[in-house]
Amino acid sequence: MDLLQAMRARHSVRAYEDKPVPPAVRAALEEEIAACNARFGLRMRLVTEEPNAFGSFLVHYGKFKGVRNYLALVGDDAADVNERAGYCGERVVLLAQALGLNSCWVALTFSKRAVRRALGLNKGEKLVCVIALGYGKTQGVPRRSKPAEKVMRAENPPAWFLAGVEAALLAPTAVNQQKFLFTLVGERGVRAECTGGFYGKVDLGIVRCHFELGAGAENFDWVR
Ligand SMILES: Cc1cc2nc3c(=O)[nH]c(=O)nc-3n(C[C@H](O)[C@H](O)[C@H](O)COP(=O)(O)O)c2cc1C
Repeated sequence: MDLLQAMRARHSVRAYEDKPVPPAVRAALEEEIAACNARFGLRMRLVTEEPNAFGSFLVHYGKFKGVRNYLALVGDDAADVNERAGYCGERVVLLAQALGLNSCWVALTFSKRAVRRALGLNKGEKLVCVIALGYGKTQGVPRRSKPAEKVMRAENPPAWFLAGVEAALLAPTAVNQQKFLFTLVGERGVRAECTGGFYGKVDLGIVRCHFELGAGAENFDWVR
């Protein structure tokens, strides 16, 4: 499965089998995580066989069941850290899907304290959110999506632009809010904006990742 197929196959999954991530899959994920950390100045960490972030004797967080593996999105306190975390986290999500794993982005329904403790984070390190990973009990289900015209502005858009928007609409966003806008600027410029919402800047990074894969990075330039 390539990353474009992974985008179509991916849906949020919140209940997982008790099946460990094989070493070869783990190694492939670690390689992508290290490359993203180096390129985007993050400190994302893959945590395996750690049940405390999603459950304890006292609390079961949200609808999550059997989560023992997660990617912690950790960075500095710079203004654009959420967007970088969104972009890089989604690259790992799509690779995980292509390697047969399922996932779910999680901003709220986990124990931040347990994750900070498991990672030994210090005060200056920001934990943006986590992504649950593992073999799902199901493959998840497709959900409703906004129509393309609600998330784009372009006159006579070229095919690559429409393919990018279509890919962005497959992306996970917090509470499925899809609060983003892609604008065609000139012949090959694209401006991506967050139009508000909860965790909107993380969503913006995620949808940029999808747009790039759908449109083909060689076909356009990002415009700020
Ligand atoms: C930044 C972000 C934060 C999220 N936080 C949570 C969460 O705290 N709890 C949860 O159950 N789902 C969470 N989700 C998952 C979304 O609800 C889900 O991605 C969205 O409904 C779209 O569904 P899909 O992922 O199946 O396409 C989050 C997603 C994103 C992108």
